[in-house]
Amino acid sequence: TRTPVNVTVTGAAGQIGYALLFRIASGHLLGADVPVNLRLLEIPQGLKAAEGTAMELDDCAFPLLRNITITADPAEGFNGANVALLVGARPRTAGMERGDLLAANGGIFGPQGKAINDNAADDIKVLVVGNPANTNALIAQRNAPDVPAERFTAMTRLDHNRAIAQLAKKAGVTVNDIKKLTIWGNHSATQYPDIFHAEVAGKNAAELIADQNWLEGDFIPTVAKRGAAIIDARGASSAASAANAAIDHVHTWVNGTAEGDWTSMGIVSDGSYGVPAGIISSFPVTTKDGKFEIVQGLEISDFSRARIDASVAELVEERDAVAELGLI
Ligand code: NAI
Repeated sequence: TRTPVNVTVTGAAGQIGYALLFRIASGHLLGADVPVNLRLLEIPQGLKAAEGTAMELDDCAFPLLRNITITADPAEGFNGANVALLVGARPRTAGMERGDLLAANGGIFGPQGKAINDNAADDIKVLVVGNPANTNALIAQRNAPDVPAERFTAMTRLDHNRAIAQLAKKAGVTVNDIKKLTIWGNHSATQYPDIFHAEVAGKNAAELIADQNWLEGDFIPTVAKRGAAIIDARGASSAASAANAAIDHVHTWVNGTAEGDWTSMGIVSDGSYGVPAGIISSFPVTTKDGKFEIVQGLEISDFSRARIDASVAELVEERDAVAELGLI
C-alpha cells in the first residue's frame, strides 16, 4: 500500500475549505489510489468550526482518508506537508487601502512561507488561492529560500475554467472541445483570457468565432469580472468552483496535462514573453511528472501584448509595494 500524502489546507473552516476538503479526502486531488493525511491550519477563532468539518469528514468514512490534524500553529500545520493549499487570507474590507491589504496578507503569507521552508517535506508543492493570490504566493516564496521557487504557484485555474465555459457556450460546443486556452497575468480584473491560440474542436478559436465585439465587449469582461457577478448573484463569493479549480490545478500539476493541450498557472516568471523574471504571473504551461514548463514560441499580437503588459504592470506594482513594506 502507498504511503499517505500529507495535504495541508489553510483557511480550512472557510467556505472554500468546506467545498475542498471532502474532494481531497475522496481522492480527487491526487488520485483514487492515493491515501491522504489532512492538516487543517486555521486561526484560533476558526478551530472550532474546523473541528466540526473534521467530524463530518470522519462521518464520510472515506477509504483514502488516514488522519486529520487541526491546528493554529503553522509549524505543526506544515509539518511534513507534501501539498499545501493556502486558502486562508485577509479579505479586503470597506475603506481598506491596497497597502493595508498587502501588509495584512504579508503578515499571513510571510510566516507561512517560513513555516513551509522549515517544516514541509522536500517535495512540497504549494498552491496559493487566498487573494491577492499572485502576490501572496510571491511573499510566501520569498520567505522560503530553501524551497525551489517553482514549487510556489498561484491559482488562475478558476479563470481558465471560466473562460473555457464561456468560449464553449459561444461556439456551441461542449467544454471537451476547447483546448489551449491561456490566462495571462494577475488573478484580478486585469487578467487576460487569450483565445488566439485556443482551439475549438481542432480549429483556431479566434478565427472560428471572428467576432471582435464579443471578444472585447463580452468574453474578456465576463471572465475577468465573473467573481463579482457571482457575489452579486449568490450573496457570497465563488466557493465550490474555486475549490474545484484548486483540485484541478494540483491534479494537473501532479498528473500532467493531456497531449495537445495546456493549462494556466500562476508561476514564477523566468522572463518568458517579456514578463519580468521573479514575479508570479499566469502563463500557458504543460505539466509532466510533477514538473511544468511554460509553452514557448506563441506569437503574441499587438492586441494581446497590450493586455498582457497591463496585467503584468499591476503585478510589478504589487511586488514593488510589498518590497517597500519589507515583506519580500
Ligand atoms: P472565508 O472567509 O470563507 O474563509 C477564509 C478562512 O481562512 C476563514 O475560516 C479564516 O478563519 C481563515 N484564515 C484567515 N487567516 C488565516 C491564517 N492566517 N491561517 C489560517 N487560516 C486563516 O473565505 P473563502 O471564501 O473560503 O475564500 C478564501 C480566499 O480565497 C479569499 O482570499 C478569496 O478572495 C480567495 N479566492 C480566490 C480565488 C482564486 O481564483 N484565486 C477564487 C475565490 C476566492
